[in-house]
Amino acid sequence: MTFLSATLSRVKPSPTIAVTTKAGEMKAAGRDVIGLGAGEPDFDTPQNIKDAAIAAINAGKTKYTAVDGIPELKAAICAKFERENGLTYEPKQVSVGTGGKQILYNALVATLNPGDEVVIPAPYWVSYPDMVLLAGGEPVIATATLENNFKLTPEQLEAAITPKTKWLIFNSPSNPTGAGYSREELKGLTDVLMRHPHVWVMTDDMYEHLAYDDFEFCTPAEVEPALYDRTLTCNGVSKAYAMTGWRIGYAAGPADLIAAMRKIQSQSTSNPCTVSQWAAVEALNGQQDYLADNAKIFARRRDLVVSMLSAIDGITCPNPEGAFYVYPSIAGLIGKTTPAGTKIENDEAFATALLEEAEVAVVFGAAFGLSPNFRVSYATSDDALKTACERIQAFCASLT
Ligand SMILES: Cc1ncc(COP(=O)(O)O)c(C=O)c1O
Repeated sequence: MTFLSATLSRVKPSPTIAVTTKAGEMKAAGRDVIGLGAGEPDFDTPQNIKDAAIAAINAGKTKYTAVDGIPELKAAICAKFERENGLTYEPKQVSVGTGGKQILYNALVATLNPGDEVVIPAPYWVSYPDMVLLAGGEPVIATATLENNFKLTPEQLEAAITPKTKWLIFNSPSNPTGAGYSREELKGLTDVLMRHPHVWVMTDDMYEHLAYDDFEFCTPAEVEPALYDRTLTCNGVSKAYAMTGWRIGYAAGPADLIAAMRKIQSQSTSNPCTVSQWAAVEALNGQQDYLADNAKIFARRRDLVVSMLSAIDGITCPNPEGAFYVYPSIAGLIGKTTPAGTKIENDEAFATALLEEAEVAVVFGAAFGLSPNFRVSYATSDDALKTACERIQAFCASLT
């Protein structure tokens, strides 16, 4: 349709939302679909956070606020960075937006000129390349391999950087692979960035608190303090505090960049939901014990899923350090045929047949930039996970 903008033709709709929608439609039609597509915790938002929101409503805290966050929330965010990451920021270095998504988008719109490049390690979160395109930049995909547990090597980063590179987008633990970079692995990447002073790093630390076993989360400005002045450290309450629907994300970085992001937000959405901001103050300042409790539950589910999927002939399933995803390879199943007669030519065909013939919704790997794989979100009950993995086992065994 010519009425629509040319920019729109550069982007595609979110494939993860598409899978969730299709699974929802099948369920509504009476099919017994188990959804392993959505990236949100199945836990309810903790009661102390809900209570803070209700108290805010009752106290009349329901009006516009400062565009990029109330002072109380900015103070709570500064305290969080100091406490958990050893990073010192002032409130004028902090931006609060409507979810982590808006924060990342604002930062890209605020900095990209036509032709500017953004290095995105693949497998990547589906929104990064399209956000870069919407902001007028060019995504440069640097593909990590399963053999390296889906982590980018310093050599791969070095090879992806050109004089036009503006940002590296870094995400650990990762959506879609769950891969988490150790301090040493991350230092390998920050050493490369130290050799290229024109490249900034946008680190998406959304899954910081979803880290398992003895994996220790770390973030670029902490690992390499000399990068502090060219790092935007992004985070949010969505995943850690089971607050996906509240829509609060935040970032800290150089004050000039934060001011530019504020300018964009002031002319688009204004402040994030006032009530949600008060809820986020309680999330960050209140008790934190459930973070570790939730991580234990997720670690147990990861173990269940990895062991059940690893038992399948034709599937290789690495054991990730964090987040709530696994990203198995189906290289051993390509070319086979399903009982209904579908040829598994690629991971999209696999995911479609799995949904239609075995009623399990997963997202195909091509959506995340590395095939042939699929992403399982294990943020659902143990029982549902077990049944879903049994269905995947039976489906794969039925391929000829
Ligand atoms: C890696 C990553 N970053 C950011 C987001 C966005 O989070 P929010 O819901 O706060 O916008 C997500 C959500 O799926 C994500 O997986």
